[in-house]
Amino acid sequence: MKIHPMWREYPALQTELEQVLTLIDQNITTNNVPVRDAILDMINAGGKMLRPAYCLLFSQFKQTDRHKMIALAAAVETLHTATLIHDDVIDESDMRRGLPSIQATFGKDTAVYAGDYLFTVCFKLLAGYASDLRSVQQDGKHMEAILNGELAQMSTRYNMAITIDQYLNQVSGKTGQLFALSTFLGAYESGNSLRFARNAQTIGLNIGVAFQLLDDILDYTASSSQFGKPVQEDMRQGVYSAPLILALREAPEAFAPYLSKRLKMTDDDAKAVDQLVRDHGGIVKAQELAKDYTDTALTAIEKLPDMPVRAILSQLTSSLLNRQS
Ligand code: IPE
Ligand code: IPE
Ligand code: MG
Ligand code: MG
Repeated sequence: MKIHPMWREYPALQTELEQVLTLIDQNITTNNVPVRDAILDMINAGGKMLRPAYCLLFSQFKQTDRHKMIALAAAVETLHTATLIHDDVIDESDMRRGLPSIQATFGKDTAVYAGDYLFTVCFKLLAGYASDLRSVQQDGKHMEAILNGELAQMSTRYNMAITIDQYLNQVSGKTGQLFALSTFLGAYESGNSLRFARNAQTIGLNIGVAFQLLDDILDYTASSSQFGKPVQEDMRQGVYSAPLILALREAPEAFAPYLSKRLKMTDDDAKAVDQLVRDHGGIVKAQELAKDYTDTALTAIEKLPDMPVRAILSQLTSSLLNRQS
């Protein structure tokens, strides 16, 4: 088991995240050896575990059964991992969490089944541990919204006229919704009111959008070895993210000769686009946007009850703005 080093600062949370990993491992019971091994390798490859961490943190405003909350945190991490495995099939990505992706190692068929299998594990955990049917309904709604975000992204591929609002809508779906589900479940299933849980859900959504913005910035500023996954792949496949969209609207004519080549874009073309994104302020503008979403989340976090977990939520959320991987 490899736990991400970022949790060293928070030993109590780290211990619970280790329990989350152990519980997921115990629930991977398929006797199909390739699927089982593929999943176990990925689960234990040192992912950041942010969604279960936020679920556990939002469950700390009430005294509650910790094992139940660990199981619900395991459910959201399982759902997240399933979406990543399928995402790598769609995006034809060869690397994930610093390892060859499941689709690259075992092929697309095994990857699709492995992701499907993890959906079943997620449902088993949710059905086994959630106290309120509303949580299961909420899970269904968020899964649908994630898919809608992905579908909206697919429908704007290679669209040079994509607006930042369209992008933000897509990102609220594909990434924001899983953070929102995590914070909702943590808050609601630990015995807080629905009103409190809805507020947690909104905070999660803003954290998730900021997180994806940072991810899309790192796609331009990080190396793949540092990031643990390929960089600059999305742009070449027509998935235009904030840094490009914000630069593109400043100088569409400069980008057009490269982007119009679509899949025929060469490595040199990709480098030229990368430079144009920087020259037209795309990175800086995307950073400002990420800061806006983070600030919205932080303002709401500051209004939560004055308990020790509130400071951890603030610190963690601000630190994500400076992440390098
Ligand atoms: C990757 O999420 C997918 C995005 C929403 C950008 P993470 O960066 O949280 O993935 P792991 O779990 O740490 O590998
Ligand atoms: C991540 O999508 C969101 C989902 C898996 C639903 P991306 O394709 O943007 O994320 P990475 O860069 O592969 O992690
Ligand atoms: Mg991807
Ligand atoms: Mg993708």
